[in-house]
Amino acid sequence: MKQRLIVGLSGASGAILGIRVLEILAKTPFETHLIISPAAEQTIALETDYPLSGVKALADVVYDYQDIGAPICSGSFQTYGMLIVPCSVKTLSAVANSYAADLMSRAADVTLKEGRKLLLVVRETPLHLGHLRLMERVAEIGGVIFPPVPAFYTKTDSVDEMVTNLAGRILLRMGIENKDFLEWKGK
Ligand SMILES: Cc1cc2nc3c(=O)[nH]c(=O)nc-3n(C[C@H](O)[C@H](O)[C@H](O)COP(=O)(O)O)c2cc1C
Repeated sequence: MKQRLIVGLSGASGAILGIRVLEILAKTPFETHLIISPAAEQTIALETDYPLSGVKALADVVYDYQDIGAPICSGSFQTYGMLIVPCSVKTLSAVANSYAADLMSRAADVTLKEGRKLLLVVRETPLHLGHLRLMERVAEIGGVIFPPVPAFYTKTDSVDEMVTNLAGRILLRMGIENKDFLEWKGK
């Protein structure tokens, strides 16, 4: 059976990062289960040239954000884990506080309670102490905080390459093999 991976796109800036992650995952054996928040629908339209239908077509299964009865709401539905990329402060806060009022935060809470991998690509800058405390809380309860900080050793002047490199590193941190990032080989 294919391993299921939940991918959430929330409404932080950087919708292209979530899209690139889905594009890379489409080349892997993972079965992707996608949640897009209403705010992410806006950022996809505002920040990218991808139609929403095109983003959804990259995933194997697409859920309604409000469907809190979807299979991924239950720990009995086995998954490899979940990524939220990009992750807004609002969604970070929901995850940190188990405020599972929608499918995104419920699925994330289930991922944590089942001891599965949860990674949040939290995107905000600058950060106030409240943001930092929310990230601390998520790290304490088992999540990985992966801010979308680019690697400058690639020396690229292409935003597209930077995005691909970041997406590859995000997946690597999830334990997903890929060749989309540049490995540092030393001096
Ligand atoms: C173009 C745009 C960029 C945004 N960038 C960010 C951001 O980088 N980080 C953030 O936390 N919120 C950002 N927001 C605000 C969130 O979309 C907003 O807080 C929303 O309620 C988040 O909802 P969600 O977490 O359910 O997706 C942005 C909104 C827009 C329209």
